Amino acid sequence: MSDIINSDIATLLSDNKKFRISDKQFLITGGAGFLGSWLCDLLIAKNARVYCIDNLSSGRAENIKHLLKNKSFVFKKHDITKNTLNVKPDYIFHLASRPSPDDYLNNAIQTIDVNTEGTRKILELTRKTDAKLLFTSTSEVYGEATVFPTPESYYGNVNPSGPRSCYDESKRLCESLCMAYNRTYGLDLRIVRLFNTYGPRLRGDGNYGRALSRFIWQSINNQRITIWGNGKQTRSFCYITDMINGLMASLLVKRTKGETINLGNPKETRIIDLANMVIKLTDSKSEVKYLPMPDNDPRRRLPKITKARQIIGFTPRVKLNQGLSKTIEWQIDR
Ligand SMILES: NC(=O)c1ccc[n+]([C@@H]2O[C@H](COP(=O)([O-])OP(=O)(O)OC[C@H]3O[C@@H](n4cnc5c(N)ncnc54)[C@H](O)[C@@H]3O)[C@@H](O)[C@H]2O)c1
Repeated sequence: MSDIINSDIATLLSDNKKFRISDKQFLITGGAGFLGSWLCDLLIAKNARVYCIDNLSSGRAENIKHLLKNKSFVFKKHDITKNTLNVKPDYIFHLASRPSPDDYLNNAIQTIDVNTEGTRKILELTRKTDAKLLFTSTSEVYGEATVFPTPESYYGNVNPSGPRSCYDESKRLCESLCMAYNRTYGLDLRIVRLFNTYGPRLRGDGNYGRALSRFIWQSINNQRITIWGNGKQTRSFCYITDMINGLMASLLVKRTKGETINLGNPKETRIIDLANMVIKLTDSKSEVKYLPMPDNDPRRRLPKITKARQIIGFTPRVKLNQGLSKTIEWQIDR
């Protein structure tokens, strides 16, 4: 594992000292992906047992290969839309999905399937095993939001038949499914709506690349940085360690049962400013190339995180230039 990830896991261990979970079993769906693999690392470092499943559609075996020799870690290549699993976890982090826009636009039906069929199967498993579940939803459920910072009480402004609907509408249906299971069977579950998260292991390549990691990849290769639209659209970027702290507390703090909580960094950044920061930090000769804005791409993203602050004490600490520097260093090493 890289020194940067090792040192961040050490920080996470110290941040999460209060959670006593040694020997508890965690199921992580999508565990070979970006967020999932960080959770695997932290939970194993905390002496928990981890059952990681992933079909490796966008996740990478290399993210978890260093854990395969650990007797508390099990990896199973498994598609969550297929048959159910024979596992009895205490806790479930349900992350499996296809969150990269180019990937989900090219695999719309599979995206709907993993979100809906897959989530239904995980909810059934949760019901049968009496586990505690965290479902990762997304800021995309707000669509083209009109209220900023956007609170959980905002219902969303989503185009139900637009190209992005395979992802945002199916995540909305997942939220509805989760709450139906909560109301019908009293399942101990919570929904977290994640805003853009970045850090080591976020893919920058091909269809899997998300804007920030793609900019880094293009910049260190002195390729043109591709921006959709005029670059004045904004996003809020949360560094991985802050997000992992939010995910851990959201699942392990009792008061979150039945709640829907925004997790993200409340600092808004224009995409063009992000591109310029990346160019500067990588000392790159890259120029910016502007491409037509895709349909229904939201103009602003800014989370209101008052609820997360109050219930789980969530306070993102890592500044964008610090997190970017680490992500760039990791990408260059890799
Ligand atoms: N990273 C972010 O900025 C962000 C923002 C909003 C929401 N989210 C949500 O967080 C979760 C994790 O996202 P991530 O950034 O780690 O993405 P990721 O693509 O790295 O991880 C998702 C994982 O799910 C796996 N997967 C996909 N379909 C599957 C299937 N049918 N069966 C089993 N595994 C399957 C993929 O192979 C991948 O490893 C997703 O649910 C995503 O919607 C992430």
